[in-house]
Amino acid sequence: MNVLILGSGGRENAFAELLSRSTSAPKLYIGPGNGGSDLYAERVELNLADPSGIAAACKQHGIHLVLIGPEQPLVEGLVDYLNVHLPELMVIGPTASAARLEGSKAFSKVLMQKYDIPTARYRSFTRGQLLEALEYVAAHPLPVVIKADGLAAGKGVIISENTAEALETTRSILEQARFGEAGQQVVIEEFLKGIELSVFILTDGQNFVLLPEAKDYKRVADGDQGPNTGGMGAVSPVPFFNEELREKVERKIIRPTLEALQSEGIFYSGFIFFGLMKVNQEPYVIEYNCRMGDPETEAVLPRIDSDFMDLLLACAEQRLGAHAELKLAEKKALTVIVAAKGYPDAPEKGKKIVFTQPAGAETLVFHAGTRKEPDGSYLSSGGRVLAITSLADDLEAAAESSYQYINTITFEGATYRKDIGQDIINYIRKAEH
Ligand code: AMP
Ligand code: GLY
Repeated sequence: MNVLILGSGGRENAFAELLSRSTSAPKLYIGPGNGGSDLYAERVELNLADPSGIAAACKQHGIHLVLIGPEQPLVEGLVDYLNVHLPELMVIGPTASAARLEGSKAFSKVLMQKYDIPTARYRSFTRGQLLEALEYVAAHPLPVVIKADGLAAGKGVIISENTAEALETTRSILEQARFGEAGQQVVIEEFLKGIELSVFILTDGQNFVLLPEAKDYKRVADGDQGPNTGGMGAVSPVPFFNEELREKVERKIIRPTLEALQSEGIFYSGFIFFGLMKVNQEPYVIEYNCRMGDPETEAVLPRIDSDFMDLLLACAEQRLGAHAELKLAEKKALTVIVAAKGYPDAPEKGKKIVFTQPAGAETLVFHAGTRKEPDGSYLSSGGRVLAITSLADDLEAAAESSYQYINTITFEGATYRKDIGQDIINYIRKAEH
């Protein structure tokens, strides 16, 4: 079985690492990949925005199954293209129509409202409705949440505590095209106060498998300070995601979402990432993503003991119903992102990174923004450079291993949070006393 994983982050290397443990020993390819891809796979030069180049690479390497990591090609219709041009190819990922779950917040809000899926109250406005939007914002209680409709690289959500600023933000999106095409519409919604967590499923259009849940750390600095990033770390499991909450999430959110898509005649196959807010004991959807999270994947996948190749094949062949339960390692996982100086605004690139592979199997190093030089050394090439995941019996020990390992890395300007998982560790301590 030849498998091509598309993407270039830590997430894609985590997919490859798990697939490399499959008993069916698939031959793995990653494109365009990064400096660490060749630890598990053969790297393929390709451009994620070029569907015909991707189809050609699939033919050249005799690919049987493609797993698409990031949202952009999904939203732009890569799956549709591959379905037409390579009908025999198995593809893990939704079509453009289904990927609107992430690609259009206005679409996902309408769907949630129509099918009674709990989410923040909202209204959406198009460019032609600027005056109505401003009126709505002016009367909205604070804080107010303003979202550009389309993909905006994680920057399209503004939470404002101040009406004048909120009006200005709304104007900048609808009138001055601050987020370009992504801001053709704006969603204005109520602020939900609670604790966030991320829940993931793999669905074949009918059935689904629940993957381990995670919590990520979006702000760049300790104590949730500083600007938002793609994510500075993650932990899995999340202790407050207990049996009761899991049952509610399945009954009120996951199943209704799959049924809503079916009722709308939308076939969704692939991963769904539910960004949730727990308000008191009730789960609400903050957002859907049409893919796995990064760095959540680097914390979630190492906990899976089931054969991941079997799972992907079952998804592609629409027989996930027989895979209802995943086998999970008893271990807890904690991932710390080592980013470049200047991340997220202007990360420095081209800095030498010196490190050795960890001795035991308990710490995993996933390359993200790295490049491999002809002499085998590594240079930084992006904002998030490495994802360090440790597995241990408890989160404290996992944190200790990840941070101890990071101390052995030489990388000028290395930027990382020192408090990944600390809130959860404190929560567990409090619950125990
Ligand atoms: P998103 O880009 O949709 O993931 O949103 C970024 C972040 O904004 C989320 O992770 C939440 O922390 C926050 N957020 C989005 N919508 C809301 C909301 N309605 N209430 C509170 N926080 C929100
Ligand atoms: N870590 C958040 C995301 O992947 O969207």
